[in-house]
Amino acid sequence: MPPPSPTPVDLTGCTAIVTGAAQGLGLEMAAELSRGGANVVLADVQVEKARGAAEGLGGSAVELDVTDSQAVGEVFASVAAENGQLDIVVNNAGVGQHLDRISDLPDGEWDRVLAATLTGTFYCGRAAAAIMERQESGAIVNISSINGQNPAALAGAYNVAKAGVISLTRTMALELAAYGVRVNAVCPGPVYTDFNRSVMRQRSESLGIEEQEMVERVRAAVPLGRWGEPRDIARMVAWLASPAADWMTGEVVRVSGGLEGVSAAPPKRVRNDDEETV
Ligand SMILES: NC(=O)c1ccc[n+]([C@@H]2O[C@H](COP(=O)([O-])OP(=O)(O)OC[C@H]3O[C@@H](n4cnc5c(N)ncnc54)[C@H](O)[C@@H]3O)[C@@H](O)[C@H]2O)c1
Repeated sequence: MPPPSPTPVDLTGCTAIVTGAAQGLGLEMAAELSRGGANVVLADVQVEKARGAAEGLGGSAVELDVTDSQAVGEVFASVAAENGQLDIVVNNAGVGQHLDRISDLPDGEWDRVLAATLTGTFYCGRAAAAIMERQESGAIVNISSINGQNPAALAGAYNVAKAGVISLTRTMALELAAYGVRVNAVCPGPVYTDFNRSVMRQRSESLGIEEQEMVERVRAAVPLGRWGEPRDIARMVAWLASPAADWMTGEVVRVSGGLEGVSAAPPKRVRNDDEETV
């Protein structure tokens, strides 16, 4: 089988915003859209890093915290005004959670994960929708996770946020269809980015095993037998954003080597006699 084509989609003349594009999956999504010919804006809280990456792609970078509703509205409006249009938005920014049982999960951690991962996607989706409705064209791709379809133990806030992203995607797809605007979601499986390195470290600690053993367990659980690469995810994002997918909306596409989720239940914990039960 030949390797995938270097420029699988034609996005010449398109303007795209990718959130959380300074590193990891978002950076590769921006690169893939750029290889397809799009003018890409990398939006991230880590603006210096995003700037360096944008230079290499011939795109631009903008500082954006997706949890800041007003800033999201302003950035999206200014990108559309400067370029005369906004064709593609990839809502990729999200944060992992500190692994914890729901019974121990602090309010602050729940709020932090939901704000960046779900509410940020809503703010950006809403800002994109307002512009794309007026244009009567555009494609939005939201990044969920296999956890959004099949929850993993100890990641309750993240699971809920990513399930919310799926529901938001399907709702927006219905509401924007009359305007010719498409909204789809991608559910990545495990890719060894900074985000997943932190998850692996915490999961290996919780099981009392070496991190490398955890990494190998995940690999072995993937039916196609390997961890994902950022480009595995980026190719699907670019394809969904492109005219090749112009009769697809409201779809939720898993890109995970066949892995449906990580659903193992943790063992009962040992309690002290004097510990309060709720
Ligand atoms: N890596 C995986 O295995 C995996 C699997 C499933 C889903 N995902 C999802 O893919 C997306 C990207 O993950 P990644 O692995 O590249 O993570 P990452 O941590 O390497 O990168 C996330 C990027 O988002 C940015 N970001 C975080 N909060 C932000 C905010 N409030 N506003 C703007 N930017 C913000 C960070 O600065 C960073 O550049 C996330 O939504 C993640 O949940 C990742």
